[in-house]
Amino acid sequence: MRTKTDLFINGKWVTTEEKLEVMDKYKQQVYANVSKAGEKEVDDAIAGAAEAFRSTQLSPYERYEILKKVSDQLLEEKEEFAQILVAEAGKPVKQARTEVERAAQTLEVSAEEAKRISGHGVPVDAAPGSENRMAYTVRVPVGVVGAITPFNFPVNLVTHKIGPALAAGNAVVLKPASATPVSALKLAELFDQAGLPAGLLNVVVGSGSVVGKQMQEDSRISTYTFTGSAEVGLKIKQNTGLNKLILELGNNSPVIIHKDADIDKAASVLSTASFAFAGQTCITPQRLYVHRDVREEFQEKLDKAIKEVEVGDPSDEATVVGPMIDEEEAERAEEWVKEAEQAGATIVRGGTRNGAVYVPTLLTDVRKDMKVVSEEIFAPVVSILEYEDLDACIDELNESPYGLQGGIFTRDLDTAFHAARRVEVGGLMINDSSQYRVDLMPYGGVKDSGWGKEGPRYSIEEMTEERLVVWNLDG
Ligand code: SIN
Repeated sequence: MRTKTDLFINGKWVTTEEKLEVMDKYKQQVYANVSKAGEKEVDDAIAGAAEAFRSTQLSPYERYEILKKVSDQLLEEKEEFAQILVAEAGKPVKQARTEVERAAQTLEVSAEEAKRISGHGVPVDAAPGSENRMAYTVRVPVGVVGAITPFNFPVNLVTHKIGPALAAGNAVVLKPASATPVSALKLAELFDQAGLPAGLLNVVVGSGSVVGKQMQEDSRISTYTFTGSAEVGLKIKQNTGLNKLILELGNNSPVIIHKDADIDKAASVLSTASFAFAGQTCITPQRLYVHRDVREEFQEKLDKAIKEVEVGDPSDEATVVGPMIDEEEAERAEEWVKEAEQAGATIVRGGTRNGAVYVPTLLTDVRKDMKVVSEEIFAPVVSILEYEDLDACIDELNESPYGLQGGIFTRDLDTAFHAARRVEVGGLMINDSSQYRVDLMPYGGVKDSGWGKEGPRYSIEEMTEERLVVWNLDG
C-alpha cells in the first residue's frame, strides 16, 4: 500500500507497535494495518496542537493558500482516494469519486472563507454616557479543535471539520473512524506536502472509548466537533462539560409525497437517494409519507425503479448499493425488518442479506411504533406510510426525536410554504429528497439531531469567538 498507515503527530509520521486492522468491506480481507494511538500518542498530538496554536500564526491568506493547494491536489489524486474509499468503506466507486470531488470543494470553500472572517462595528456611543467611546468586534480562533468523524464519508466529513478549523486559525486533533482511517491519513499527507506548519493538524487513530475519551477529558482542547449517533453525541456532551460542542447526529428522514406531486420524479429521485451508500447517511430518506390518492401509483413506480438498482461489488461502475460497514450492521437491519414483518409490515421488495450486503428493501403497512420508522435505520430500507390530511401527517412526522433534513414533493406553492413552516428540521427540500446536500450550505439539525451548523462559513462561526474591543477616547 503506497499511502501512509502511521499516525500524524506534530508534523511527524509516528509508528506504533499496536496495529489496527482495516478491513476491505466487500472482500472481507485485511486492507491495511494502521498504527494505533495509545495514551502517549494522544497526549503528544494534543500538546503539539496546543503549542502550534500558541506559536504559529498563519495569515488568512496563508491559510487560503494551503487549503487551496490541498483542494487542488485532492482532485489530482481523485482516483487514488476513490479506490481507498471503495476498499475501506465499501463505497460504490461512482459515489466514492463524488465524495472526493465534494471534499475538494469543501476545502476550496474553506479556503475562500478564510479571507472573509470579520467582526462588525458596535455603536456604543449611542448609549448615554458613552459618547466618547467606539467599539468593534473581531473573530478570534477558539484554539485546539478536537474532531471525531464517522465512517460514512471518510474524506468529506473530515474536510468539513479540518477545513473550517484551519481556515479560522485553529489547530486540530482528528480522530477518524476506526473502520475508515486510511483516507484521513492520506489527506494529512497532502496537508504536510502543502506546507502546513507542524502541529496544526494531528491524526490519531483508535477507538472512541480510548482515544476519543482521552481527547474529551483533555482541557487543552477547547472545542469539539462530532458527527455520529445521538447516543455517542450525548456521551461526548457529558464528557466535555462546558466546552464548545458541534454535534451532527442522527435522523430518520421524512419525505412527503403529496397528492399533486410529480410522481415519476419522486419515484426516480427516491429510488436512488434511499439506497445510495447502502442507506448509511444521516439524511437518507427513511419515512415516505404518501398521500392516499397517489399511494398506489407511487408505490408501483418506486418498486419498479428499485428493481433496477444494481447491488454488489463497490468497485463495479454500475453498483449503487454495496456492502454495509460490517456484517453486524447488516444483521441488525435484517432483524429490524423481520421484527416489523412479524408486527404486520409487508416487505414489498428486498428483505434479504448476503454477508454485509443488505439488498434495497421497501416496506409498507408499517406503523409509527416500529423501529424501521421510529429509529434511525441507517441501512437501505425505506418505508411507505399513507396519509390523508397533510397537517395530521406533519404532526405525526414531527413526533420523531430527530430533525436533520426532510423533503416534500408537491406542485403547489402554498403547500410547500406551509410544510417549510411546519416541518421540524434543520433543512427542508422542496421537490427533492431529504438527502440533498452541497457543501457550502448550512447543514445541521434540531432536537436530537444535534446543534451547530456545518458548511465552511457556518462552521467557522462555531470555531471562532466574537471578541469585543471598546475604545475610551476621552484622553
Ligand atoms: C451525513 O451523513 O450527515 C452527511 C451527509 C452528506 O454529507 O451528504
